[in-house]
Amino acid sequence: MGKVIILLGPPGAGKGTQAKKISEKYGIPHVSTGDMLREAVRNKTELGLKAKAAMDSGKLVSDDIVLGIVKERLSRSDCKKGCMLDGFPRNVSQAESLKEILGERYNEVVALLVDVDENILIKRLTGRRNCLKCGAIYNIYFSPPKVENKCDKCGGELIQRDDDKEEVVKSRLEVYKESTLPLIEYYRNEGKLKIVDGSQEPNLVFEKVVQLLGL
Ligand code: AP5
Ligand code: MG
Repeated sequence: MGKVIILLGPPGAGKGTQAKKISEKYGIPHVSTGDMLREAVRNKTELGLKAKAAMDSGKLVSDDIVLGIVKERLSRSDCKKGCMLDGFPRNVSQAESLKEILGERYNEVVALLVDVDENILIKRLTGRRNCLKCGAIYNIYFSPPKVENKCDKCGGELIQRDDDKEEVVKSRLEVYKESTLPLIEYYRNEGKLKIVDGSQEPNLVFEKVVQLLGL
């Protein structure tokens, strides 16, 4: 049974950036609740329509919607060899549910906090651009694409997330402090917490991540 890696950290910490590297290097699926919810919103599914208002205002989507998609995703066969959870769990109640869903596999959990000072998060978020086709992550200030608005990897169009506008970013940071921050203590108490300094350049952060995970 492979590792179940949970990435914790504020919006803009670089969870998605590191999750893609971890998933690629170790051949485990990248399970991002944010990406799955955004896809549902784009496709205007019933679930997407329910989630949209909360996401647009930077609030958390209800636990039952999120748990539904996570349970379904974790039950697929590719998650048997391990998985890279990004953006879930997001509050203590989701963490308790995950423990239940995993059963014996809970032994394999590592919670990795990507620790970044709040003052650099706003620039990371407002400068972020994502490829619509392959999901690659760029930043117009720190890691711009070679050609404006075009993905280096697949040539797809780069777009800005609706919730990366400054007003919504502020609300997301508040929600993080209130609901998600307590998970740091939660996983410390469970003896599962590791911390990486996420303020350095992404490849340096990744080197540390590999050392910490001992993968
Ligand atoms: P979600 O998509 O999970 O967003 P988030 O947690 O707010 O985190 P982000 O994706 O904004 O940041 P990130 O840490 O992944 O950073 P990234 O690597 O992209 O959630 C969105 C919404 O969905 C929520 O608000 C909620 O409504 C809903 N939702 C999702 N999960 C939920 C759940 N479990 N329960 C309830 N609701 C849920 O990097 C950011 C930028 O910085 C990029 O431009 C990148 O290029 C740059 N960057 C990254 N690393 C570095 C570095 N080391 N140095 C310089 N720049 C860097
Ligand atoms: Mg992300």
